[in-house]
Amino acid sequence: MGKEVGHAALVLFFALSVLVGHSEKLQSSQAQTLLRIQQFLNFPESLNGWKNDTDFCNPEPRSTLTVVCYEESITQLHIIGEKETNKLSKNFSIDSFVTTLVKLPNLKVLRLVSLGLWGALPDKLSRLSSLEILDISSNFFYGTIPRGILSLTGLQALILDGNMFNGRFPDELGSLSVLTVLSMRNNSCSGSLPDSLGSLENLRILALSNNNFSGEVPDLRKLENLQVLDLENNSLGPQFPPVNKKIVSLVLRKNKFTYGIPDEVKSFYQLDHLDVSSNKFVGPFPSYLLSMPSITYLDISANRFTGMLFEDVSCNTELKFVNLSANLLTGGVPSCLLSNSRNRIFQYAANCLATKDVTQQPNSYCQNQALAVGILPHHRRQKEASKIILALSISGSTIGAVLLLALAFVLARKFLAKNEAQKLPVGIIEENASTGYTSKILSDARYITQAMKLGAIGLPAYRTFSLEELEEATNNFDTSSFIGEGSCGQMYRGQMTDGTYVAIRCLKMKRRHSTQDFLHHIELISKLRHQHLVSALGHCFECYLDDSSVSRIFLVFEYVPNGTLRSWISDRRAGSKLNWTQRIAAAIGVAKGIQFLHTGIVPGIFPNYLKITDILLDQNLVAKVSSYNLPLLAEHMGKDDVHSSNTSTQLKNLRVMHQEKFDIYDFGIILLKIISGRPIISEREVVVLKDQLQAVITADDASRKRVVDPAVSDACSDESLKTMIEICCKCLLQNPADRPSVEDILWNLQFAAQVQDGWRGESFHSSDGSPVSSFKPPHQRLTIPWH
Ligand SMILES: *[C@@H]1O[C@H](CO)[C@@H](O)[C@H](O)[C@H]1NC(C)=O
Ligand SMILES: *[C@@H]1O[C@H](CO)[C@@H](O)[C@H](O)[C@H]1NC(C)=O
Ligand SMILES: *[C@@H]1O[C@H](CO)[C@@H](O)[C@H](O)[C@H]1NC(C)=O
Ligand SMILES: *[C@@H]1O[C@H](CO)[C@@H](O)[C@H](O)[C@H]1NC(C)=O
Ligand SMILES: *[C@@H]1O[C@H](CO)[C@@H](O)[C@H](O)[C@H]1NC(C)=O
Ligand SMILES: *[C@@H]1O[C@H](CO)[C@@H](O)[C@H](O)[C@H]1NC(C)=O
Repeated sequence: MGKEVGHAALVLFFALSVLVGHSEKLQSSQAQTLLRIQQFLNFPESLNGWKNDTDFCNPEPRSTLTVVCYEESITQLHIIGEKETNKLSKNFSIDSFVTTLVKLPNLKVLRLVSLGLWGALPDKLSRLSSLEILDISSNFFYGTIPRGILSLTGLQALILDGNMFNGRFPDELGSLSVLTVLSMRNNSCSGSLPDSLGSLENLRILALSNNNFSGEVPDLRKLENLQVLDLENNSLGPQFPPVNKKIVSLVLRKNKFTYGIPDEVKSFYQLDHLDVSSNKFVGPFPSYLLSMPSITYLDISANRFTGMLFEDVSCNTELKFVNLSANLLTGGVPSCLLSNSRNRIFQYAANCLATKDVTQQPNSYCQNQALAVGILPHHRRQKEASKIILALSISGSTIGAVLLLALAFVLARKFLAKNEAQKLPVGIIEENASTGYTSKILSDARYITQAMKLGAIGLPAYRTFSLEELEEATNNFDTSSFIGEGSCGQMYRGQMTDGTYVAIRCLKMKRRHSTQDFLHHIELISKLRHQHLVSALGHCFECYLDDSSVSRIFLVFEYVPNGTLRSWISDRRAGSKLNWTQRIAAAIGVAKGIQFLHTGIVPGIFPNYLKITDILLDQNLVAKVSSYNLPLLAEHMGKDDVHSSNTSTQLKNLRVMHQEKFDIYDFGIILLKIISGRPIISEREVVVLKDQLQAVITADDASRKRVVDPAVSDACSDESLKTMIEICCKCLLQNPADRPSVEDILWNLQFAAQVQDGWRGESFHSSDGSPVSSFKPPHQRLTIPWH
């Protein structure tokens, strides 16, 4: 309740500040607190220039310092010190420091990184009850995680990397129910992981590398959002961690995992990075890992995987890194990994593969070793396992002798081979090898830290704009900066003082509302930021003088300069239209934009009534969805509903049930235009064309070539075309419930892109320029049930 009152006060102030002009002043008590903090931190470089008359809320932009004020209070404080900062002196008291800090009660984001802070974190940190992001990495904190933190139930990211925290994780961790990022790398925590981790359903990133956690990993299968699990360098195991099939990056390196890789890994269709190296895995190497749909990084080295590899297994062509070294593999070296190896690191030393390579052992070595490993069914207990190994090595004294000999032989060879091994082709490892968060994940993460996310989409932080600023940018909303008018208000193009362009949408209010009525919407809009959305940069309210109700709202968006998708497909001369690869990429972009609207923020936004003219391309031809269903517009303006067959009354009930599937239908129409290249106008045309497409799915490739846009038909692989046609037809199914999910669509589009890529690669390689007739898809296509 207190919060609401606070809000009202803030809003009132805000309305006034818009009228009075834009000068946010901090409460003087908060300014004093900041100065105290500067003193506590022993006047670090990043706070240079802070004095008692500093305008704290409008600092010069610096990477090492961010202060964000909302009305009179500080809501974000980021102070980043230098990398190797020493511990603060003996007279520093973490207790007094936190006592000072909690005098900024509205803090939502607190980042105190590399500042030499030390001590046991006191419980009273819990008084910062608005906290959403806490990052105190690279300091010298010790002791256990204080229970106080568990009462910060709004916490979305807890980042404690690079400290000296020790002891066990509290069992009640599950109470942080909206936690999205939990990062505890480079500490000294130990003990088992609490089962309650398994109930943090919003968790996207769980990073616990370089600690000494032990025991089994709790069941994380309910964490449908979990994309990164990094457990490197602990003592966890022996069972493979149970995770949801949507996992993207799984790092188990340097632990005590022993039993084989379970079959369910096969269904991890988004798995991009798998590192199980330096464990004690036994059992057959599952060669399907090489051909999983999203895999690009696979490290199984230094385990005891057994089994025979075949030269003709298939691999995902996107694999950038494969290390099979130091296992007990026999058979041939997969040729798909050897070919086209320019951009790939592939190592397989110290196995028993049949190749001239001197780093390999004789077959018998691997067979004997496999025997000695004693591969047991999973349910056997470890005690029995060690008994069996013991029995084997005692009874088989001949085997023992052979092993000793083999070992000597191996060592000698290894020594000789050392130089040889170093000559293996070495490429560039992607930036996300095992540390950092992958940009792929960041781009769709719900709300990780501002800074991390900004890095991913390269936009300035969301902020409020002053009316003067917008007037200046548009030359007082001059007609020369007017770029269009829709049912929901005018659009202007503005140029900010730093030279960047923005698009400003001006919404005139028909009814009188206070700014408070919009707070919730604004909060939602501020989260509409994604690589494939025309993202929101900020807003500004204009209010009436008499009762402070809102007269106009300005929403500021990024300006996307390169025309609409339609213009790139239907309106240009043949030579400058998008090619097939670019079209698939655009479709993937649109699908990702839709996925973000549906699932990237809560509540999801749909239906969006997307048309091909709402898809804009930026200078790199990245597709961005504009004119989505802004929450504000739906309620206060109403968007035109002239739309397709969806609006028939029969379907009205369905409409409520399957709202997200209406976007899928509209996406189907966009795909139809992308494939056919035609500017389809009527619903009848859609039906006719869809039937044509449906008919050619099972026909021969020549018929398929006839329906695709002639501008691209020569340069598209039949397999990718077929996939695109299939998914397009499914999107256009009459019954919304039958239409595929965005995830299914993305999966299929990515498959189409991959096939097209492989096809292009092959055709480049055929030196006589003849079409490649016997194209083999790069990997087996998984069948994913449509629901
Ligand atoms: C700032 O500090 C100086 C010196 O301590 C003092 O003279 C001055 O009055 C202070 N100004 C304000 C606005 O508090
Ligand atoms: C702590 O001691 C240092 C000198 O060792 C001094 O410069 C600093 O002002 C002291 N800090 C506090 C908060 O007392
Ligand atoms: C953890 O420590 C390693 C070195 O032991 C270092 O390379 C890495 O950057 C550290 N990571 C973090 C997140 O502090
Ligand atoms: C493994 O983690 C421990 C901390 O638990 C650390 O001291 C050690 O350097 C780490 N080892 C590697 C290879 O990173
Ligand atoms: C890690 O924990 C295990 C017991 O779980 C212990 O035996 C080992 O010494 C610990 N390692 C370190 C580096 O603390
Ligand atoms: C591959 O694994 C082997 C064995 O653990 C290791 O020595 C080698 O450095 C790894 N290669 C790469 C490129 O990481």
